Amino acid sequence: MYDVFSLPAIRFPEGFVWGSATAGHQIEGDNIHSQAWHNEQQPEFYRDDPERATRAPSGKACDHFRLYRDDVELIASLGHRAYRMSIEWSRIEPVEGRWDHQALAHYLDLLERLVQKGIQVFVTLHHFTHPFWFERLGGFDKADNRRFFERYLTFLLPKISSMVSGWNVINEFNQWGGLTAGPAIAPLKFNMLRTHALGYHLIKRYSSAPVSSAHAFIHWFPRRFHDDLDRRMTDFADFTTNEFFFHALRTGELVYPGVDAEYDPEVKGSLDFWSVNYYTRHMVDARLAGLDGPRFAHKLLQMIPMRFYLEEMYPEGLTANLERLRDYPVYITENGCCAADDRFRIVYLALHLSALHEALERGVDVRGYFYWSLMDNYEWTTFIPRFGLVAVDFQTFRRSPKTSALFYREIIRDNGFGGETVRRYLDALPTLPGRVA
Ligand code: FCB
Repeated sequence: MYDVFSLPAIRFPEGFVWGSATAGHQIEGDNIHSQAWHNEQQPEFYRDDPERATRAPSGKACDHFRLYRDDVELIASLGHRAYRMSIEWSRIEPVEGRWDHQALAHYLDLLERLVQKGIQVFVTLHHFTHPFWFERLGGFDKADNRRFFERYLTFLLPKISSMVSGWNVINEFNQWGGLTAGPAIAPLKFNMLRTHALGYHLIKRYSSAPVSSAHAFIHWFPRRFHDDLDRRMTDFADFTTNEFFFHALRTGELVYPGVDAEYDPEVKGSLDFWSVNYYTRHMVDARLAGLDGPRFAHKLLQMIPMRFYLEEMYPEGLTANLERLRDYPVYITENGCCAADDRFRIVYLALHLSALHEALERGVDVRGYFYWSLMDNYEWTTFIPRFGLVAVDFQTFRRSPKTSALFYREIIRDNGFGGETVRRYLDALPTLPGRVA
């Protein structure tokens, strides 16, 4: 593994925003009016998946909805200056057209407490979950349904906008409908862009804080580097998941392979920053229907006791891809590592912050970094991948900061770090448990 003990000392620009990220459904618990909760109760949820033994419903998650006051104290005690969180639409509008004022009061209190601690809050307005009633009406698959989202935002935004320092309309809007899909999925991709644009312009009425939607920035990589088809399909995957969105936001042109191009002036320029969620690279195998091929076995880190799609460290991908985003400021809204052994997280953090710094040196205007995630949480189908800086006991809900949280706190305090810093938090590199069968 990389020699993180010898990393050169680096410093980040004055005012660099350091924080962590979470999402409502993954930490709050009892999010019973959401489509995600509904799906978790269905028998199909536990079938059709080779990992079904690891599948579990979200249940109480981290019980954050109850423990949020303590969690604000926790965030502050870890030295975080910023926090990215999401608000659950299904709590505020559990029944179509009916507002739950208690749920709203909860979020207002949470936001207020964060602001009082001097923490900049970045709010995600849609992080994978929405009311079950909205899903039953066809969700974002139906363009006309945008009006429901619009009505909800019109209710919510004026109440929270004074407390928000940055906005994500939708989380990872570029991965809706699958990552490597053909023309059939284009209408949904167009819908997501237009929903984003609608949110962007609506927020502008109430807030001067910067707005974007988080982009799942996948670094596609040809499995056989010499193979012409693998390379072409790598370009294809990069286009449909990355470049299509960048181009649309920059120009208003929705140009997707296999469908007639469209122009939408509302989409053009509908961002104030690039919001980047980066984890690792993905292999493109053009001989597989889904394109998403297996990793190089020698780079696969078995960091949790199940197979998972993010078990490689590929920090170079962060530097390389950030160079594509030179026209607006950039915030890394998610980046993190799931590992049972916390030492992997320290290595991951050190490598990715170095890679990020390299992008800064190359002239990319990166303004902030949000580690995913503040605490171990519900990873959509399972509790096994542990991304947290803070461990959560899912029986007692007790929070315990890990060594990586202390490492990160020192980085924030010093606005930089080096191999010396790493040495104080890491006695030795974690050993590789070997390949997953
Ligand atoms: C991202 C999601 C986030 C979390 C991480 C691991 O794609 O935005 O909610 O699941 O992956």
